[in-house]
Amino acid sequence: MTTVENRSELRELAGRRALVTGGTRGIGAGVVRRLLDAGAQVLTTARSASSPAPEGAAFVAADVQTSAGAEAVAAAVQEELGGVDVLVHNAGGAQGYKSGLAIPDEVWQHTLDLNFLAAVRLNALLAPGMRDRGAGAIVHVSTAALFPPSPPFLHYQAAKVALEAYSHGLAAELAPFGVRVNVVAPGRTATPGGEATREHWASLNLTGGIEAVATPPLGREGRPEDIADAVAFLVSDRASWITGQCLGVDGGEFPRG
Ligand SMILES: NC(=O)c1ccc[n+]([C@@H]2O[C@H](COP(=O)([O-])OP(=O)(O)OC[C@H]3O[C@@H](n4cnc5c(N)ncnc54)[C@H](OP(=O)(O)O)[C@@H]3O)[C@@H](O)[C@H]2O)c1
Repeated sequence: MTTVENRSELRELAGRRALVTGGTRGIGAGVVRRLLDAGAQVLTTARSASSPAPEGAAFVAADVQTSAGAEAVAAAVQEELGGVDVLVHNAGGAQGYKSGLAIPDEVWQHTLDLNFLAAVRLNALLAPGMRDRGAGAIVHVSTAALFPPSPPFLHYQAAKVALEAYSHGLAAELAPFGVRVNVVAPGRTATPGGEATREHWASLNLTGGIEAVATPPLGREGRPEDIADAVAFLVSDRASWITGQCLGVDGGEFPRG
């Protein structure tokens, strides 16, 4: 039987070069640790190293919500790894507002840039290398909380829906070249960003929409490792016949039809 202890010995990603955005804390740090355990070489990025990246990972400071930041990350990838076989766009998030109509224009732009366009830009820079080599795996981190529509988070939900639609289209374009593109959609997960968002949301004293305090059906909130396991599976050869899919990892809270 495969156990948590011996699973890391599989080293199924040995020889793979991976980029993970937002890997200094939360879900991204869990993904970095999981990919390192599986033998991958990992480069991660965040705006600062105030929380250090997991030991063993290379780090470049960059703001991936700008084109210049995406270019800096792609340059670091070429310099440190010589290209990527695995790309995980995880950096994301947003603050809630009392009303969808109250979300300022610059917040819409920021939220789209971070959650959606960063993936578009990084893929434009790095996926051609995968396509030319005839192999690669891309995972975009979305959210399970897309339904019901939540006015305080319209900008966030719209950005993640765009990310998912884009992922499915990119999967179709890259499948003939052996490059797979999938989405992982976490439910509420114990991370610094997740906790801060939920605290702020609770302080808005809103009613209706997604209930901010209920416990997921499986009886606990998620851990970064829960999401990291799904990402590690999807970028591994065990998922070699899976592309264009969205895998919800949410303790059963947001079943999709
Ligand atoms: N936690 C949850 O409950 C939950 C639920 C559903 C979906 N998700 C999704 O899961 C992903 C990770 O969430 P999390 O809760 O782990 O977040 P988190 O705890 O806030 O960590 C975010 C990571 O991304 C980095 N980051 C943020 N903005 C960045 C930028 N502009 N450029 C580069 N790096 C940036 C942060 O470092 P710096 O701040 O130093 O840049 C940090 O390393 C997000 O896409 C989020 O939407 C989370």
